[in-house]
Amino acid sequence: MNKMIIEGNKKLTGEIKISGAKNSAVALVPAALLSDEGAIIENIPNISDIAALKDILNLLGATIEETNGVLAIETKNSFNKEIPEAMAKKLRASYYFMGALLGKYKEVDIYFPGGCSIGERPINLHLKGFELLGAKIEERENHFNIKADELIGNKIYLDMASVGATINIMLAAVKAKGETIIENAAKEPEIVNVATFLNNMGANIKGAGTNEIRITGVDYLKRGYIEVIPDRIEAGTYIIAGALKGDNLKISNIIPLHVESLIYKLHEMNIPLEVHEDHLIISENKNMKATSVKVQVFPGFPTDLQQPMTTLLALAKGTSFVEETIYENRFQNVQYLNEMGSSIKINNRTIEIKGVDKLIGKEVYATDLRAGACLVLAGLVAEGTTKINSIEHVLRGYENIIEKLTNVGANIKMEDSNE
Ligand code: EPU
Repeated sequence: MNKMIIEGNKKLTGEIKISGAKNSAVALVPAALLSDEGAIIENIPNISDIAALKDILNLLGATIEETNGVLAIETKNSFNKEIPEAMAKKLRASYYFMGALLGKYKEVDIYFPGGCSIGERPINLHLKGFELLGAKIEERENHFNIKADELIGNKIYLDMASVGATINIMLAAVKAKGETIIENAAKEPEIVNVATFLNNMGANIKGAGTNEIRITGVDYLKRGYIEVIPDRIEAGTYIIAGALKGDNLKISNIIPLHVESLIYKLHEMNIPLEVHEDHLIISENKNMKATSVKVQVFPGFPTDLQQPMTTLLALAKGTSFVEETIYENRFQNVQYLNEMGSSIKINNRTIEIKGVDKLIGKEVYATDLRAGACLVLAGLVAEGTTKINSIEHVLRGYENIIEKLTNVGANIKMEDSNE
């Protein structure tokens, strides 16, 4: 177990370059398996979730070469095999092997995925989609056998616009017979990235990025190529760091449209911000105004930035409210933020934040990935030393976080701890 130690209250200036998106990359790597030849994926972030997926690809007989963030994956000799529980439980995105293996081999043996404990996180919509394509599912003690004699396109309505279910059904349907229509599909940019990759292999997917996706099945998928889009959540996290301590901090390699909901909020708070085509420049405003945030699916304010945003609102003048509409348990950061001096009350799915003048460094715990990001931001702005335990949660999603923050003036390091 590692700890992150931050000596806070240092100005942040210079440039932070954003890496490839975790939530795209974790779907693109399993999607590569669907190709009958292989694939090249560029701009892969070096994070532990990707390492866990590469282990699963290796288990399935695919070979992987990696040079400077480019993955060359060969799938000609890959085969179907049960994915053991320990591998599936390492991360949420192991569930994309359900769609990929079902699509390719018409059968998959796998266990319930892991991931941050931020709510119940069922996968019923993924399973419903597979069933509507003709698969039979046997579930016993967290183990799933999903099998189809034949996958046949169908109309699938999602009760919730789930990112995971939308991508998983796309993966299962690309080689199905006939047309699959996903209604109330999720519209997140990561879905477009995955659809572009599959189309590059020869799949026929239309409408990704809208709430109706149409997939006409094909028999063969050739070698694919894709570049992972910039990580809008990593970008948002460092943009918030700039709003807290930035002195003309440049956040580069971003797609501003993907972080627009955050940019609007920062304008409302009077944060000095210049938005350019692929970067932005941000500075702090000690008199920033409170505002309210309601989490929504894309293009609304992302749930994954709700906890990082709370650090900023904790220091704004006035009272802010944050409403989490997607996960039942995504406020575990609040206890630790309050120990650092914030004044936040939880009321069901909403928190009320009374702005304070400063935060003070403390020893805290990263309960999940974005709670950890919230505490890293708190540590950067706090007076004194912040020690964040269980920091491995953060390393699952933020590439080279120590180097990126050190380069712009933060005093931050990792320390081994035996807790
Ligand atoms: N849901 C269901 N049934 C399902 C699937 C989802 O009820 O079958 C519900 C969930 O319980 C939740 C909501 O729908 O309330 C959203 O779930 P979604 O499927 O969209 O989330 P996910 O696929 O599990 C991905 C990201 C999350 C991100 C969400 C929302 C990956 C691996 N994970 O999760 O990322 O919060 O979409 O954008 O892509 C993170 O990066 O910190 C993270 C948690």
